[in-house]
Amino acid sequence: MRATLDKEMRTKMKVTVWRGSITEVKADAVVVNLFEGVKSPGGATGAVDQGLGGAISRLIEAGEVNGKAGPATVVYTLGKLPARKVVVAGLGAPAGFDPDGVRAAAGWAMRAAAKGARTVATIVHGAGVGGLEPEAAAAATVEGSLLAAYAFKELKPAEESGGIEELILVDRDEAKLAKIEAGARRGEALAKATMLTRDLVNRPANLVTPTAMAQAAADIARRGGLSLEVLERADFERFGMGALVSVAKGSDEPAKLIVLRYQPGAPRGGEPVALVGKGLTFDSGGISLKPGDGMEGMKSDMAGGAAVLGAMEAVVVLKPAVEVIGVIPATENMPSGHASRPGDVVRAMNGKTIEIISTDAEGRMILADAICYAKKLGAARIVDLATLTGACVVALGNVRAGLFSNDDGLAAAVEQAAAEAGEKVWRMPVDPEYREQIKSDVAEIKNTGGRPAGAITGALFLKEFAGDTPWVHLDIAGVAMSQRDLPFTPKGATGFGVRTLARLVESMK
Ligand code: BES
Ligand code: MN
Ligand code: ZN
Repeated sequence: MRATLDKEMRTKMKVTVWRGSITEVKADAVVVNLFEGVKSPGGATGAVDQGLGGAISRLIEAGEVNGKAGPATVVYTLGKLPARKVVVAGLGAPAGFDPDGVRAAAGWAMRAAAKGARTVATIVHGAGVGGLEPEAAAAATVEGSLLAAYAFKELKPAEESGGIEELILVDRDEAKLAKIEAGARRGEALAKATMLTRDLVNRPANLVTPTAMAQAAADIARRGGLSLEVLERADFERFGMGALVSVAKGSDEPAKLIVLRYQPGAPRGGEPVALVGKGLTFDSGGISLKPGDGMEGMKSDMAGGAAVLGAMEAVVVLKPAVEVIGVIPATENMPSGHASRPGDVVRAMNGKTIEIISTDAEGRMILADAICYAKKLGAARIVDLATLTGACVVALGNVRAGLFSNDDGLAAAVEQAAAEAGEKVWRMPVDPEYREQIKSDVAEIKNTGGRPAGAITGALFLKEFAGDTPWVHLDIAGVAMSQRDLPFTPKGATGFGVRTLARLVESMK
């Protein structure tokens, strides 16, 4: 089975910048915008309105276009402009308008423009009266546009035709052009990295095996000049990674511990940061088998690992000042005669003994050894991403990821990066009192803490392995997949975390 078609589409999508008037650009569709409450459009939207003989003004008068954030309006040009259609995107209220408003407007616009269009030209939302930095506005316009055009069609070849080939950012202002160009490159890198992650998460577990994840990592390493190390079962045993082995041994698919490394050029920043992602390619629960209903969704239990792969792909373009180490423990969690049993006690790489209460609490097991290994590689700060607990979905739903940390400085840096990336997180407590729940009668710790505060006890388990190293854990169980279409995220894998991680390492000194 070919799993490369979307990859081709992703690389095919070109992003260019063109200096001139949106009324003159050659494209199948052109995108303009409007703030809520504007009665007579100015700037680029005004120019297009004039070109169309006042059609947009008419639509505003009639209340059919109101500038509110939401589905965009399509106007046919009937030969009055080079483009076949104009799309009017609503920016919402000017107060509080930010890059995430740009992403949403661009996303809605693209969804209206993409039908039957190969080339789409757009003004840079927010760079005019919106008052945003041209670079940030251009990046957000590209992110929203490309991410909205994403579709996972590689396994439905009949529906695969079409798709946008070129997105053209248009601005008349020579002075802004260099910034817009820089923003376009950033946005393109972040969007394409997010799409890589979405593809990996959307693909089923028979295609995305641990071996396939290692192959994806090898492709990223080759494209970006990163170094790659892939540990296998014999290496796990050699390093004493008993927690990772305890999960991997139930499956016939060979597990991999994938390590990607980015080395900065000069000037070099401070100490290395590790991005650790849960790469559970299928979580059946193991001997503590999950109910069959909805189990197919557990193909997405590698979303944390896929986000780290996407972030590493973006890092190559963003070139942060710090060394970045991507660490992805990749394995299946399966029941078999080789599988771990509830009650088994294993020893992690740092020597800690763990009593397995539920083989379904496997994410924390594989992350425990991955975090130990990241520290061995010299990580001085660690951010892990994992679809770790159903309890986090109960707590925060599908809107925010849970953020847990032993370090206020690193926690604040991740919160800020997430805000800039337009990905929502919420800091949760890790009081030592909760540690009582994961005390074991027979080992130093046990892998479940009962129903109360399940997301917190999961985080506290990981915290034992981070030790004194500044660490943030993002529980993305509720946000890795979307159950419905969002402005720039179609139903399915969201790629959550890629843009936050990329922004984070970029901000690090
Ligand atoms: N991968 C699951 C968590 C999950 C649940 C992700 C729903 C996405 C959606 C994880 O491995 C798991 O099974 N967690 C258990 C932990 C429990 C046994 C302590 C859970 O949440 O029930
Ligand atoms: Mn599980
Ligand atoms: Zn899991």
